[in-house]
Amino acid sequence: MESTLSHSTPVAGKVNVVEHDGVYTIFLGSEEERVITITSERMASLKETIAQLKSLKPKGVIISGPRENMFAAGADINAIQSIQDPLVGEELGKEGQAVFQMIEDLSCPTVAAVSGPCVGGGCELALSCDFRLISTHPSSQIGLPETKLGILPGWGGTQRLPRLIGIQKALSIILPGKTLKASQAKKYGLVDEVLAPANILARADAIARGKGPLPFKNQISLVDKFLTYTWLGRHLVERKSQAAIMKETRGNYPAQPAALQAVLLGLSAGTKKGYAHEAAELGRLLVTQESRSLVNLFFLTEGSKRIGKAAKDDLRALNSLVVGAGVMGAGIAGAFAQKNIPVILKDTELEALERGKAQIARSLEKKRYLSGEDRTAILERIRTGTENPSGTDQVNIVVEAIVEKMDVKKAVLGKLAAEVAPQAILCTNTSSLSVSELSEGIAHPERVVGMHFFNPVEKMPLVEIVRGKQTDDRSVVIVAGLTTKLGKFPIIVEDVPGFLVNRILSPYLNEAGALLEEGYRIQDIDRAAQKFGMPMGPIRLLDEVGLDVAEHVAKIMVDGYGERMKSRGSVGKLVEKGLLGKKSRKGFYEYSDGHEVPNSEIRSLLGITNEREVGDPRVIEDRLIMSLINEGIRCLDEGVAGIPGKEAANQIDLGTVMGIGFPPFRGGLISYANSLGAKAILEKLRHLQKENGERFAPHSGIIQRAEQNKSFYEAVQLH
Ligand code: NAI
Repeated sequence: MESTLSHSTPVAGKVNVVEHDGVYTIFLGSEEERVITITSERMASLKETIAQLKSLKPKGVIISGPRENMFAAGADINAIQSIQDPLVGEELGKEGQAVFQMIEDLSCPTVAAVSGPCVGGGCELALSCDFRLISTHPSSQIGLPETKLGILPGWGGTQRLPRLIGIQKALSIILPGKTLKASQAKKYGLVDEVLAPANILARADAIARGKGPLPFKNQISLVDKFLTYTWLGRHLVERKSQAAIMKETRGNYPAQPAALQAVLLGLSAGTKKGYAHEAAELGRLLVTQESRSLVNLFFLTEGSKRIGKAAKDDLRALNSLVVGAGVMGAGIAGAFAQKNIPVILKDTELEALERGKAQIARSLEKKRYLSGEDRTAILERIRTGTENPSGTDQVNIVVEAIVEKMDVKKAVLGKLAAEVAPQAILCTNTSSLSVSELSEGIAHPERVVGMHFFNPVEKMPLVEIVRGKQTDDRSVVIVAGLTTKLGKFPIIVEDVPGFLVNRILSPYLNEAGALLEEGYRIQDIDRAAQKFGMPMGPIRLLDEVGLDVAEHVAKIMVDGYGERMKSRGSVGKLVEKGLLGKKSRKGFYEYSDGHEVPNSEIRSLLGITNEREVGDPRVIEDRLIMSLINEGIRCLDEGVAGIPGKEAANQIDLGTVMGIGFPPFRGGLISYANSLGAKAILEKLRHLQKENGERFAPHSGIIQRAEQNKSFYEAVQLH
């Protein structure tokens, strides 16, 4: 019987089929393939297979990934990136829709046996089956992250998902581009059963044969039925969703409204029109600048994961010691423990250890996908103490997160260096001290690395890996690998004051202070930055960071770079009055019950007498964003992110998006600067310099590129 099928042996890039007593299992690829993407080749082989199966009258069909940690990771993003013509994108959508329709139209039971990632096109494939099972394998997840790439699910996802789980839940997945873990997916009704990986194919086989009890089919509630299938219900959902999208994206991401409309149209006008609209919108969105930027960023994140790959063996059996149980140390210890890394958390203060443990427990409480046992197991991985507990000699990763004082840190690092094995890596989470200086006099200084996490550790996805003068490549690679293991993105930066992110951020924050002192309102300044696409305005950000911390960093910047980093001093004045920002519930804003309003006393506190109206909001935007760009390109040319060129530019793009919140749809700072072009930037900076002073003096690398018509991905010789 197998000989009648053309795909009965595993071949990389294609699907293959195994028959057992009338039930056919389609494996989406061969076991050797690390990632299964649905390329045009794989889609074609799936189509051919389904067509052949139809004539074989199977008892049932199972669709499975080749391994328990891989179902299908979605469409081939390389292919997506190369599309230039919306009609080609539309065709890609229609082709996938047609193949998945063939699966839905099979007259036998069809079961998706999901183990490992099942996202994007993989999820849409699973949605075309009658049943979906998911395994408890830690890598299992299912969902539709397409909007994160600036597109919408184009292979039927906007049509099938709302019908399966109701419009509200469907939109809560599709609009933010969410993926769900196994138990969440079951709660949503997206899958029918959750099983151990070893049992999933046997259960799929039983269902495909109609043997034993069939899964209890998820029913959408009466309210969901009303919202999904009545005009009035959809109207309510539409209004609520549009408002949420506007709030979230400020109109900067076209994929979300497009996905919403595709869902609504399919429900009101029927699937035929829905599918056609979905494919056309896929084509349109694929060629937008927003999608291009997001896809490019996706590749940058993938690239950053490769930096630490060579450290795979070093990362197998990690034992960590985190010194300092403050805000950062506790966050870091929690992150380690969640990734199965045993932690010794040390502090000189017992109270700090208690607070640190409570902070970790609170952050775990927020992760609703963790069970009670998971939380307990994570917490049990962390041992705390004021002295070195047993096992310190087993430690191979140390992260120091104590007070930001050179002499204290040096003493602690020196002592640690003697207590742990000579090859153990010593990381410092310093935000402003020189890593090279910290490593002076330490045994084996080549293993001292800056591992600069951002606050709050749970949320911030970036880690700057700072290479001191003596740091060796092995240490950098291990810390990069560790960062990736933690689910964060590493960038490698030089040991300069402020490293990369805080250095770029400083002139921007200073400019916000300058605008404030000139009489602009706090909310107008922050709104201009948010309109540009920043997640929060610079003044709100200062409050979030903590004004004492910001003040400290500002001093380091002035020491390091002089006049151009000088602020007008408003942050310092607030610190003097004990206003530290969000943590003291009062800073530039006042905080209560999760809300904030601009602090009404700011003007009198800072002695600001005039009030300036915003004429053209672009004036504020230009001053803020050009400050970022001028410093960012200076960093690029000075080699802060590596040898100037494409790779360093990529690191700055990733660093600014992940560390500063530079709008992802603009692709990162350098990508955005390139889209403006050196000439336009130079013109703006010269104008701002004339109007506002020397801090806007254009960096020579911008002048040169403007004169030589060069892009920021090309290096120039600095004079
Ligand atoms: P924190 O003040 O909350 O915590 C520091 C902890 O270190 C305290 O619990 C203190 O008791 C403990 N400590 C002091 N000396 C010690 C010693 N000799 N041995 C063991 N423990 C000791 O400070 P935070 O904010 O957690 O910062 C820690 C480090 O992280 C600093 O280097 C800071 O620059 C850096 N950092 C801070 C960020 C922030 O936003 N708070 C962001 C990124 C880095």
